[in-house]
Amino acid sequence: MTATAPRRLMLAALLMAAPALVPAAQAQAPNRGEVAVYSARHYDTDRRLYDAFTRETGIRVRLIEGDADQLVERIRTEGANSPADVLITVDAARLARAKDAGVTQGVRSATLEERIPAGLRDAEGHWFAVSQRARVIMYDKTRGVPQGLARYEDLANERFRGQICVRAANHPYNVSLAASILAADGAAATEAWARGVAANLARPPQGGDRDQFRAIPPGQCQLAISNTYYLGHFGASQNPADRELFERIGVIFPNQGAGDRGTHVNISGVALVRTSPNRDNAVRFMEFMTTTEAQQIFALGNMEYPVVSGVPLHPALRAMGEFRAEPVHATQSAANAAEALRIMQRAGWR
Ligand SMILES: [Fe+2]
Repeated sequence: MTATAPRRLMLAALLMAAPALVPAAQAQAPNRGEVAVYSARHYDTDRRLYDAFTRETGIRVRLIEGDADQLVERIRTEGANSPADVLITVDAARLARAKDAGVTQGVRSATLEERIPAGLRDAEGHWFAVSQRARVIMYDKTRGVPQGLARYEDLANERFRGQICVRAANHPYNVSLAASILAADGAAATEAWARGVAANLARPPQGGDRDQFRAIPPGQCQLAISNTYYLGHFGASQNPADRELFERIGVIFPNQGAGDRGTHVNISGVALVRTSPNRDNAVRFMEFMTTTEAQQIFALGNMEYPVVSGVPLHPALRAMGEFRAEPVHATQSAANAAEALRIMQRAGWR
């Protein structure tokens, strides 16, 4: 009796709520055309953002997903007839390359310029960062904080022989990191660094970022190089085993010393396509991405750091600690990428 009464009440509430829901859904904003989004991101939560945009504006999102370089090539091939309005991709160097390839155009928008810090957008408005992730060093808290490991450069020290796990050199996350070291330290020092890291590997590079820190508790690796959001997903997981792993892994944000350059971050960014047929809708979409609601879906949905200040962080991200980020130099990163990869591979980091 006592159990059924509340259930009946809930049912009544649902029945009463149901008719109200239908007109609300029908009262959605009228169709105001569409925006074609070419995205190289592959996170399910991004779709929630596109739905939120449509609910808010009545503008439908036509989503085309693909590999970043292929999407840029596709826009080029489609030429003036390209339906593409907006390009979304990960990696600052790729955004710089899209600009170089002539597939983007500059946007002047008070909203974008006010909400996105100058260091996180192209000076001519060809791309705007909408989320960021840090590349960090992870360790086993049960073994204590590793000594002598405060900078990426320290990873080459022979005291860490046989301890490091990292994915293959040619992944953009590692190329981007090495390109920033190349910019900071020069070619000779970067080559010495890459040789040191290769000599310190616990095993040949394999798997993705999360496979590196997952191998810490079983003792295969003592140190892992990974992007923050992969670990963040474990901290936000409903699965107790995931959260246990999250609790066990410590995070070092490198290069935080006074006068040092800061921890390497990479971005996801958005760009207006040069031939965009729905320019107003596209700019509106880009601006929408900087709202608190969108930042919570797009950035925090994937456990990345928002680019807009004042957006509250997920507790799992807060638990990893605060850090100072190295400024994003997209053009330099693109210019250094090929040489950085050659150096890593020559050094034996495959
Ligand atoms: Fe990733």
